[in-house]
Amino acid sequence: IMSDPKSVVNRKVTTEAEQGVSGDSDETVKENPGRPGSSKMDAFTSMVESLGQTLKEVASESIRCSSPLKTLDLDGIAEYIKTKKPKNIIVMTGAGISTAAGIPDFRTPGSGLYSNLAEYDLEDPQDIFCMDFFRENPKPFFKLAKALFPKNIKPTPAHYFVRLLEKKGLLLRWFTQNIDSLELLVGVNKEKVMAAHGSHASSTCLKCKKKYDLAWITKHLEDPSKLVPYCEKADCDGVVKPDIIFFSEALPRDFFKRIVEDFPCCDLLIVMGTSLVVQPFASLVDEVDSEIPRLLINREPAGPFRGPIEGGRTTRSSKKALEACYGLGIKQSNRDVFHRGDCDDGVLALAEKLGWDEELEQMINQGPPTNLLL
Ligand code: OAD
Ligand code: ZN
Repeated sequence: IMSDPKSVVNRKVTTEAEQGVSGDSDETVKENPGRPGSSKMDAFTSMVESLGQTLKEVASESIRCSSPLKTLDLDGIAEYIKTKKPKNIIVMTGAGISTAAGIPDFRTPGSGLYSNLAEYDLEDPQDIFCMDFFRENPKPFFKLAKALFPKNIKPTPAHYFVRLLEKKGLLLRWFTQNIDSLELLVGVNKEKVMAAHGSHASSTCLKCKKKYDLAWITKHLEDPSKLVPYCEKADCDGVVKPDIIFFSEALPRDFFKRIVEDFPCCDLLIVMGTSLVVQPFASLVDEVDSEIPRLLINREPAGPFRGPIEGGRTTRSSKKALEACYGLGIKQSNRDVFHRGDCDDGVLALAEKLGWDEELEQMINQGPPTNLLL
């Protein structure tokens, strides 16, 4: 069941832990050198200090050793791909991967869909994807579906990049929240694509459950004289709804099977163009093993990629290492890379670092190998 988006709470770095208390006790001891027991105190203080130092070194070393990436940036990811040769890469995408194809995302203020539904007269913009609302009044949804129906849309370089991963035998699965089918249009095998929120590829009559294919719904959505599609079966007047997942609807059964089968094998996670607020999709990022590198390419930080890791270079001090080990503050990630910017720029930069840029450009120039919409 999809739950309403929840904003991710930005955890605050605890600074108290960085203050330390040994300075005070040092001073006290120095000011009273002759008091009884001061040599024991000195010994005790120095023992505590040396223990603290050892702990810091161990913690720091263990983080450095356990980090799968040399640097927490695209260079680190490129180096990881070249040297560790991951072959089970999982890609997770959202609406941001398709904005360059002319499809608006949902939550970007101003251009996002949810800021532009005033004419639909909805109490809450997300009602447009609510089953209860749809059963009562399917018109706003179809008005939007017609306005947005992807006509002549082209996959973006970010889509081609995932196709390239597949071509190189490195793609385990592509989990997408998008319903634009650009993953298939770019030529990725449909077995490799998990459309978590469904797609327009099929539609179902809400009354008799008769299935309709992409061509049927395309014809309907492209016909300006029609709005709500109705079932064509004799004696049925049910509304035909594209099989995209609305809030409160169950996700495809395959989705959960894929999570259980795929995520434990994942050796690199690449997340692109999503605010990571809609569950359960958003939580998938935590399904990969804790030592597996995760890359987010997005215009803004999202999910666990918020925090003190932007900009790439790791600036871990031993104090931060200690905090990470002993839970004294925010957990300093040693495997997350947040690359701020457009998905297309990010994948082109990564492809260049990998020496794949010519191949990628060639694919983009050739255009999509299939045309699903005709
Ligand atoms: P959102 O609109 O919530 O998030 C899109 C993210 O992509 C934002 O963080 C943008 O800053 C970023 N972005 C936009 N264009 C970009 C670009 N060219 N390059 C990089 N980043 C870019 O969309 P989703 O996370 O996909 O559900 O939303 C999840 C779900 O919420 C959708 O599947 C949809 C919606 O309710 C259904 O339709 C059922
Ligand atoms: Zn029917």
